[in-house]
Parts: sequence; structure tokens; C-alpha cells
Amino acid sequence: MPTKPLKVLFVASECFPLIKTGGLADVVGALPRALETIGIDVTVMLPGFPDVLSGLNKQRTLSNIKTRAGETGKLIRGVTSSGLEIIAMYVPSLFNIPGNPYQDASGADRENNYRRYAEFSRIAAELAQGKIGRKSYDVVHAHDWQAGLVAPFLKAGPRNEVKTVLTIHNLAFQGLFPKHIFRELGLPESFFSPTGLEYWDKVNYLKGGIAYSDHVTTVSPSYALEIQSDEGGMGFGGMLRAKSNALSGILNGVDMDVWNPETDKDIFHAFKSGDIKGKAKNKAALQKSLGLRLNPEAPLFCVISRLTTQKGLDLLANMTDFLALNGAQLALLGSGDSAIEHAFLNAAKKHPTEISVTIGYNEPLAHKLQAGADAIFIPSRFEPCGLTQLCAMRYGTVPIVGRVGGLNDTIIDANPMALADAVATGVQFFPIDGHNLYAAITRTLSLYQDGKAWAGLVQNCFAQNVGWESSAKAYNALYRSLAN
Ligand code: ADP
Ligand code: GLC
Repeated sequence: MPTKPLKVLFVASECFPLIKTGGLADVVGALPRALETIGIDVTVMLPGFPDVLSGLNKQRTLSNIKTRAGETGKLIRGVTSSGLEIIAMYVPSLFNIPGNPYQDASGADRENNYRRYAEFSRIAAELAQGKIGRKSYDVVHAHDWQAGLVAPFLKAGPRNEVKTVLTIHNLAFQGLFPKHIFRELGLPESFFSPTGLEYWDKVNYLKGGIAYSDHVTTVSPSYALEIQSDEGGMGFGGMLRAKSNALSGILNGVDMDVWNPETDKDIFHAFKSGDIKGKAKNKAALQKSLGLRLNPEAPLFCVISRLTTQKGLDLLANMTDFLALNGAQLALLGSGDSAIEHAFLNAAKKHPTEISVTIGYNEPLAHKLQAGADAIFIPSRFEPCGLTQLCAMRYGTVPIVGRVGGLNDTIIDANPMALADAVATGVQFFPIDGHNLYAAITRTLSLYQDGKAWAGLVQNCFAQNVGWESSAKAYNALYRSLAN
């Protein structure tokens, strides 16, 4: 007997290609489509930021809504260019803000964030139960702290059948606000407790999500273990250990259509998976366009990242002389901590034909780097999953990574056994410090010198399946086990 399609409501603050600051957007843009192909009916609820509304086709109003403070707005239904069904919550006073969804132009957190994402979660909980709109959902799948209050609002309401999953994409971002805002949320007093939203006398949205969700996932099996330790738990280790029966890690994938070297319109020369000549053409064009010395022999490393200490790029900034003086090149794209930005900018000034630094966010350049570079650095101190190593492998670019979180689960270190068995896909190092990064770089340079070993690594990367199919099946199994 055919099973009834499950109805799942994703609730998140980002979704590629509408609005993106990092990997969360990639996941929310791609996973629902992978779920749809295995018969799950997915709708994605997003805040109605200007970029979201301007990217939606076939818009129509689903319902009028009102915030607790009395502001009016509406839920707008529409579809993305890739056919994903979206419900955007448009309340002008909360969401009519261009640019970064969390921070203003100076990099400070936006003033109203506590209210913005509380109202977003409250309305999501009503939508899930069918109190707004014409449909109710079997499962709400909330993502990160911005949707952390969906489960508390559902628990606080009348008995309902909706099951809740919270995915933690990064435990470092928790949505922490002063105690006095709790009154404005409209949640029961009892929820401000150590087993609820209270955290060191503050209100913690992610903690609320963890406490009241039926199941918590994170984006790799290794990170699921790391966050249950005192060291990796960022204050939540004990709480997550206590929840371990309802906590699991499901690895991210990448959108195989967005990241496809054969059809990629952003790269200089489209090439088939495995075609190293096609890759070499992209390398030459990249060196030329970035003003790097044209040299097919020079190992070209890239970085595509937020420039933060999470990503370990302060460590890499100390290695730039070493790279340039050893015949290697570095092309970096990213933005973030100003000290890290400046360190790389200075390195580019010092070695203009070996090091290129682009500060900012640039999707087409990210694709060109993946296509043209020989290797990518991801020396993260912690990494819930990481997506750039997956995109890199799809383009035959070898990841040099810290052995943490999802980087541990997706890359096979080029140790002698793995090389002999032809299964290695990259270079890993641990613990994450300058000495070990230096050792990883020297190991990479000697693998590169040994043309045969390097060619093997590149082909192993190309051969990896980095799509969503198997993880989509794991989410399907989880939703079904909850809904039954
Ligand atoms: P995180 O979400 O922690 O930043 P991920 O590796 O999961 O890290 O995802 C980062 C995503 O953002 C990838 O799709 C990557 O290509 C993209 N990205 C990061 N920095 C930039 C940038 N400066 N320009 C363009 N894309 C970027
Ligand atoms: C977060 C994490 C990153 C992960 C992404 C998508 O931003 O830092 O590791 O890949 O979310 O899940």
C-alpha cells in the first residue's frame, strides 16, 4: 500500500539562491529538493527580506498576520527558480531590511533580532498546526537559533500532532538575549528555566529549540559526538549528552546542479568530471585573471570562506611567506575579522604575483576558484560539516583540512595506506595549530611534486559522491519514525 506523502515545513532564515550568508542557505536550498524526489512534500518558510521577495515567482497572499506588538503583515506563497515552494513572512517593520539578515553595515547585530526571529518562529508554529493557511504539517524542521523558538511555541500551545526536528548547523551561534525580553515572547513563565530557555540568566533561543524539539540533528556524525563533550559543547555538552537518544548527525551534501563543472556558467571552461586537461585550462585562466604568475607547475591553493578563527585562517595567514617562497600560489576569497583580512591583504601586497586576495562575497569567483585551484585550505578549529570541501572534490580540487567535525567524516587522509589503496582524497591534520598546519602544507607540497600521487588524489576526489541522496533518505527515515 503506498504510504501517504509526509508534509514537512522547513523553517530557516536563509535559502540559496534567495538569501545566503553561509552553508545554511545551501542546505535549505538543496535538501528540500532531494526530499521531494523521494516523495516528501516540503515547504520552506523564510523571513520576507527584500531579496527573498524579489526572487519569488508566482506570488500570492496566503494569509494576513499580526505580531504580538500589533504590526500587520502577510504570509506570501511563491516558488523559486528551481521550483521550491516558499512561504515568506512579510512584516515590513521586521523584515524590510536589505543586506545581511543579522547584522547592520557596521557588523553589529541588528537591534530587533530577538523580536524578529521570535515572531518568525511563533508564526511558523501556527502555520505548522494549520492555524494559518489551509494546510497542517506532520513535521516542522527548524534550522539554527533563528528558528529555535518554533518547538517552544508548539509545546506551549494546545495539544497538537506536529513533530519537531531542530538542526544545529553551528553551535557557536545561539541567539542569546537579555533576560528582560522573555516577557515579550509570550511563552509560559515556566519555560524560563534551566531545562528550558534560561542560560546563565539570559534567554537562549537555540537552547529552547534543543530542549523542546522531539529530535535534534546536526550536520555530521563527528560533530554530533563533539558537541556532547564539555570541550566541544560550547556550554551545552551536558544538556546534549542527556539528549543523546534523540540526537544524531546526518552529513550534508551539495546541490549537484549548482556545483557541476560540466554545466557551470561561472567558470572559464566547462569540463567533465575527471578531465584534468579541462581543469588545467581553468587554472591558467584563473592565474591570468587574478594577476598571478602564469605557471602550470606552481601548486595553486585557494580559500573560500568566512575569515574567522572558527575557520583557522589566522593560522594560514602566518604561512603566506612560506607558501610564496616555496613556489606555491594562494588565491583567497572571503571576508570577516578585520585582523585576518589585513594579514592576507598585506601578504598579497608583499607577493603580488603569488598571492591574490579578494575581500567580499562573490559567488561566481567561488566557482572559478573551485574549478581552477589545485587544492583548497579548510584549516577549521571546528566544523559542523563544511561544504567547500565537498564542492572542491566535485571539481577535482584537493582539500587540506583540520580533522574535525564534518571534515573528519568527508575527507580521507593521504596516509601511506590510503595512498597504496588509492582511496585518499585530501590531507588532514590535528590538533589544529600552526605546527600541524605547516606539516600538512609540506606534506601536500611533496605529494604535488610526485605527479602520479597527486593525479591519483585528484581522481579520487572526482569519484566521490557528494550529493544529497543518502542523507535525504536518512532524514526521511527520521521524519517517518517521529510521525509514526
Ligand atoms: P559556513 O556555513 O560555516 O560559512 P560552509 O562550508 O558550510 O561554511 O558553507 C560556506 C558556503 O558559503 C559555501 O557554499 C561557500 O562556497 C560559500 N562562501 C563562503 N565565503 C564565500 C565568499 N566570500 N564568496 C562566495 N561564496 C562564499
Ligand atoms: C554552518 C557550519 C558549516 C555547515 C553549514 C551548513 O554554517 O559552520 O560547517 O556546513 O552550517 O550545515
